[in-house]
Amino acid sequence: MSSHTWLSPKSVEQAKIDTGFAPIYVTQPYLPPLEEFIPYLEEIWDNKVLTNGGPYHQLLEEALCKYLGVEHIALFANGTLALVTALQALRVTGEVITTPYSFVATAHSLLWQNCKPVFVDIESTTLNLDPAKIEAAITPETTAIIPVHCYGNPCNTEAIQKIADNYNLRVIYDAAHTFGVQDAGGSVLRHGDLSVLSFHATKVFNTFEGGAIVCPDAKTKQRINHLKNFGFVDETTVVAAGINGKMSEINAAFGLLQLQHMPQIMLRRAEIDMFYREKLQNIKGIRYLPQADQTVANHSYFPILVEPDYPLSRDALYQKLKDHNIFSRRYFYPLISDFPMYRGLPSATRNNLPIATEAAQKVLCLPIYPALSKQDQKRIINILQQEEK
Ligand SMILES: Cc1ncc(COP(=O)(O)O)c(C=O)c1O
Repeated sequence: MSSHTWLSPKSVEQAKIDTGFAPIYVTQPYLPPLEEFIPYLEEIWDNKVLTNGGPYHQLLEEALCKYLGVEHIALFANGTLALVTALQALRVTGEVITTPYSFVATAHSLLWQNCKPVFVDIESTTLNLDPAKIEAAITPETTAIIPVHCYGNPCNTEAIQKIADNYNLRVIYDAAHTFGVQDAGGSVLRHGDLSVLSFHATKVFNTFEGGAIVCPDAKTKQRINHLKNFGFVDETTVVAAGINGKMSEINAAFGLLQLQHMPQIMLRRAEIDMFYREKLQNIKGIRYLPQADQTVANHSYFPILVEPDYPLSRDALYQKLKDHNIFSRRYFYPLISDFPMYRGLPSATRNNLPIATEAAQKVLCLPIYPALSKQDQKRIINILQQEEK
């Protein structure tokens, strides 16, 4: 979910002349007022600690634990390195069950750790890994499951844990979309052996680039801290082939500032989500996902499914919005299992993944971000409504 359709400043101007409107992307990063960030920079310039677990890194870990309601967090330079390190920390090997309906980094992390992804289909209600289909994919080589809380909607964590317990499997949640989400028992990030967050620019909470692993105990966090620092445990001892996954002070400082703005970020996202739900509910052929089993949602995405009874195909609607300078995204199309490095796997066949295949053909993520104005949102909704018969 990292790329945007790129327009140069010149083409933005041209697009404005052609349509009369500035482009609207699927998301726009939230940036606090620049003057609020200057004191943080001054502090870094004064103390000259730029990385390696400096003061802002520590402060952000503490602040995030408090904000998210979890015990231990290890910060990373991005979510992908955090995923790779999570697998390494738990010594995951062999086959790993995962979803094809995600951003490609979920499965790529397995290839980086020399594990074999085994794709299992998703549920049509949440578009998350279907627990009922996991058992059939388990072999003697299976060691772990990587489910994704897709769009921030929690997986069926109870059912997944039950299977993991029965077969002695590790569970690492790709929680890249799940910042701040809670269920009846508290943070959704507490589930599984580890949960991995992304703080990429496109995410609800961003540190420009960034990520984290939520871990259950201090010992696991310590191992992860070693692994994200080349495997160093002290000046002269290296215990594993760790990567350089550390978050820098500038990203951590930005995160601390960003955290102060979270209440208004979450509020605006909730308002935009509610307005879409209200206005789209009566458009024939447009379906959206029901609120999943969470008590606090983060409204990180607003996916719609374009059904056969809508007058336009999904791709025609995508193009029509584009012609109006509105850049929706077909997350997650293509499926991970359709990319060249995965499509030869036995589990990657479309017959094995009918629900995911259908979802990838129907889904369109509409713009949702704090600065999206009501006027712009109405314009998007109008375009969707124009096709009604
Ligand atoms: C589901 C999912 N997993 C992993 C990632 C990778 O995170 P990052 O971009 O921080 O490396 C992303 C987003 O970018 C994502 O959406």
